[in-house]
Order: sequence, then C-alpha cells, then structure tokens
Amino acid sequence: MATNRLKEQRCPAGSQKVALREGARAIRLIPGNSNNGNREGAARPMTVLDFQKMKDEGRKISMITCYDYSSARAVDRSSVDCILVGDSVAMTMHGHPNTLAATTQMMAMHTAAVARGAPSKFIVGDMPFLSYRKGLKEAMDCVHELMSAGAHSVKLEGVRGHGDIVRHIVDSGVPVMGHLGLTPQSVNQLGGMKVQAKTDAAVELLASQAHELEDAGCFALVLECVPTEAARKVTELLKIPTIGIGAGPAVSGQVLVYQDLLGLNPNFKPKFLRTYASAFEMIHAALNSYDEDVKGGKFPSETESYS
Ligand code: KIV
Repeated sequence: MATNRLKEQRCPAGSQKVALREGARAIRLIPGNSNNGNREGAARPMTVLDFQKMKDEGRKISMITCYDYSSARAVDRSSVDCILVGDSVAMTMHGHPNTLAATTQMMAMHTAAVARGAPSKFIVGDMPFLSYRKGLKEAMDCVHELMSAGAHSVKLEGVRGHGDIVRHIVDSGVPVMGHLGLTPQSVNQLGGMKVQAKTDAAVELLASQAHELEDAGCFALVLECVPTEAARKVTELLKIPTIGIGAGPAVSGQVLVYQDLLGLNPNFKPKFLRTYASAFEMIHAALNSYDEDVKGGKFPSETESYS
C-alpha cells in the first residue's frame, strides 16, 4: 500500500537520510535537525518559534493556502514553509462569491484532509465568518474543531471587539495568527475587496490594531492588500512576523492562494498576483487529449489493457 511505503529523502545540508512514511506523520531521525527555516527536506512541521526566528534572522517565510489531500501532498514535498487552510476555500473549492459561506464544519473537513496530505508542514486553520463573534464558547468550540482536525494554530480576522477572545485562545495554548488590512469576512462593511490603509489615519489605526494583536499574544500577522509603506511600518513596529498578500515586499513573508499561484483561475488577475504555472490551460489540454483518444479508439492501447 502506498500509505505504508517507506520513503527515503535526502537532506540538502549533507547526506543524512530522513526516513518518513508517506501519508503518516513524518519521523525525524537526524539529531539536531531542529531548524526548519528554508526547510527543503525537513521532516517535521516548523513551530511558532521558527516563525519568530525567521523574522529575527531576516529570512522570509513562505506560506500557501491549501484545501485538499492531493494538493497538500504536493505542498508537503515542496520547500514552502507552511500552509493556511483559508476560508477562501468557500470560493476556490465550493464556488461561492466570497468567504462568508465558510463554516466550522467545512474548515475542519478541509483542515483534516490537508493534515493527512502534508504531515511535515505547519498548518494554520482559518476561523470562519462570525465563529469568533458569538461568544467565547462558540469561538472555543471552533478552535477545538480545527485543532482536532490537525491544525497547529488558528487565524482570525480583525481585533475590534474580540481582543479578549484572541487572548483566551492564546492562553489556552493555541497559537493565533492575526489578519488585518483587507479582511474579506467584512467585505460588506468595507464596500468591496479594496486596498486598505490608504490614509495616514488608516495606517495609524492599522498599526494600533497590529500592536493590540501582538499584545494579545498572536505569533504572526497576515497583512492583506495594504500599501507597501503601511506594511513596512507595521512590520518594523512589531516584534512578531508579518505575512503579506498584496502588501508589497517589506514584510516578513508572503502568502498566496494555491489556485492563484498555479494559474487555475485565469480570469483572476489582481496587481499583486504572480502566477507560477498555467495549470488551467494544462488541465484543459490534457482533458481534451483524453477525450480525443477515447473517441479515436486510441485509449486504451494493448499495453493499457489486461490479457
Ligand atoms: O482565506 C485565505 O485564503 C486568506 C489569505 C488570503 C490570507 O485568509
């Protein structure tokens, strides 16, 4: 069975070998291999300490969203540092127009699938719309679901009116990633998916909310769609790392949506996005080739058939 096959993987720095089981939690065999910054070949997830270390040492953090088992397997074998099971899953995997349709159950199911596919990555589970605005019990139930599903931390948007909940989650031993700037769960309040913090006053507010989240114990902060200089200011003010999306280069790391990075959504072309593949076209061509082969009697061949 593929899940039980023992795999060997070479570490880049030297020729030590790490044995890991495909589809199961990775087993670290190398003593002292605890630094997973720039983690090609690393066999265990980074920790919140690694996030801080990477900022302190000026090394950039790479993060990618991911929502399902087969994509998680690809991410697991990459050198990308960590995974966000974002509530953008409501859009990318379920076809909703925004993230408001995400539920705790949806987030937990996708988090569990990603955890099975990416045992060597640190996973952030996104708390969905209103899940942390209905009271402490409801918020903690959601945190419990996501952590039980395999997340190593949770992320939530904003801070106004729920700083105490952030603090409670942190005090419960669960790392929290904050999220400021464009907070898509507030799309109706913001009047659309627009760049935020464009005035001096808005930058001041962003900085003070970032401080509030750091004081509440967040280990990192996503900054979405803010001008480069606003992101630079917040990154310099804070001790904890900032992870940008549409926030320019002066942050501690970057996050992109898996489908966007791979070009699976060719009509989505925001200014901040760089696509690293044309996966939609590739898949489209492959499907048409298959169809042509089936209809032309070319598939299956003799070698693809049983005797
Ligand atoms: O849900 C998501 O994908 C996100 C990222 C855009 C940061 O929150």
